[in-house]
Parts: sequence; C-alpha cells; structure tokens
Amino acid sequence: MIDVRGLTVRFGGVTPLDDVSVLFPGGTCGLIGPNGAGKTTFFNVLSGFVRPEAGSVTAFDENLLALSDFRRARWGLRRTFQQEQAIARLSIFDNVAMIHEHSRRERSTRRRDVLDAIDFVGLTVPSSQKVEVLTAGDRRLVEVARAVVGRPRVVLLDEPAAGLPDEETQHLSDVIQQIPERFGALVILVDHDMSLVSACCQTAAVLDFGKLIASGPTAEVLRDEHVMRAYLGTEEEP
Ligand SMILES: Nc1ncnc2c1ncn2[C@@H]1O[C@H](COP(=O)(O)OP(=O)(O)OP(=O)(O)O)[C@@H](O)[C@H]1O
Ligand SMILES: [Mg+2]
Repeated sequence: MIDVRGLTVRFGGVTPLDDVSVLFPGGTCGLIGPNGAGKTTFFNVLSGFVRPEAGSVTAFDENLLALSDFRRARWGLRRTFQQEQAIARLSIFDNVAMIHEHSRRERSTRRRDVLDAIDFVGLTVPSSQKVEVLTAGDRRLVEVARAVVGRPRVVLLDEPAAGLPDEETQHLSDVIQQIPERFGALVILVDHDMSLVSACCQTAAVLDFGKLIASGPTAEVLRDEHVMRAYLGTEEEP
C-alpha cells in the first residue's frame, strides 16, 4: 500500500500537485488525467527527482521521501520514463543487469534474475542483441524488464504503451497484469489508453490540474462525472 498525504509541488507559479491525498491499495493501480495534470510530476516525487513543498508518502511502512534516490532504488522502487532509458549500444542483458546491480538482490542471483525478467516480458530475440537493433515494441519490453528485475516493491510505469500498435499494446497489457503476482510489487500505471487502464487496474486515481478529482474501483472512477468532464468537457465517457 502507498499512502500519499497532502502532497504539494510548486514550480514558480505552477502547482503541478496541489494537496494530493490518495491511497494506492496494491495490485495494479491506474493514475490518469489529461496532459499536464501532474502524473509524471507525481512519479518524479516518488523517485526523488522532485522535492515536494509539503506532504508525505508512506510505501509499505517506509517513509519514502526520507530516503535518498539511491536508497529508494535499493529499497525496490522502479520506474519507466516517457522517454526510453535503455542504452542503445548495450545488449538487452546488460541493460537489465545494470538495474539489478542497484537492487537489493545478491550478485549471485544476477544472471538468473536478469534472464527471468527478459523471459517474463516475452522478449524472444537473444538477450545478447544490442538494444539499437530492436523494434520499438521490443525496446519498450526492455524498459519493462528493467522495471521488474531484482525484486521491486513498487513499479511506476509512465505511458508504457504510448505509440504502440494494438497487438503490441495487448501483449504489454498481459505482461503488466502479471507483475503484482509474479514479483509481489505494487504497480502504478499512467496511460492515456483507457482500455489498457481498465484491463490492468483494479483501482484508479484521477488528477486534473494537480488536484485529485476521483479515486476508487476503476469502473466507477471512469463513470464519475468529474472525470468525464476533465477529459472532454462533455458528459461522454473518456
Ligand atoms: N520542471 C518543471 N518546471 C516547471 N514546470 C513544470 C516542470 N515539470 C512539470 N511542470 C509543469 O507541471 C505540470 C504537470 O506536468 P506533468 O509532466 O506532471 O503532467 P502529466 O500529467 O505527466 O502530463 P502528460 O500526460 O502530458 O505526460 C505542467 O503544467 C507542466 O508544464
Ligand atoms: Mg507525463
């Protein structure tokens, strides 16, 4: 469980997170909202890139904001970014192994854990392939393998399906849905694809202009009139 209370971030005149209190109970939780709502800023706070002006984040009884970035990674916090992070000229294996190095897992488990993560995401090309020769869809799977290797406790996925064709989004959806059970991690999924969010997330929280406007079971949240209005300014479903 992740318990967020009174989280506020300010950049000059902008308040990308405004007194946000929300509970992520476990499993896969959606975090949605229109462009600029504050979703990535929220991930930046959790991973330590942005320091909030006020508020607390308690993740499995750990005061996350009190840990340095390095300790958060060791503790088991992982994230993907809207921009790919894997290093193009390195192999799939090395890209995943470098994350394992900063995990709380022993070195002796590295090879097995890395191959396990690569296998889990369903990459079928040899793990010695360089990332630069992979298709966009396979590169996305490398990002996910990096997020799940080394016993993560919390996995933050920032628009993992953006720009992927339907078939690859479907595969990614199957993979994401298995993360909590396979790795025992809590997943927060940010994505604009509502069918992906509905398929993967038991619960969802919605940000709009830095404020939490709804949270709860995904189907209920997507029917909420404030949520529909935030997305479309109409009464249609998002
Ligand atoms: N480093 C920064 N300095 C100033 N303003 C910022 C900074 N980072 C984000 N913002 C602003 O904070 C707000 C929230 O941005 P954020 O990237 O968190 O939104 P988002 O919900 O992830 O949007 P998207 O769906 O487009 O990715 C926006 O108004 C953005 O311009
Ligand atoms: Mg974003």
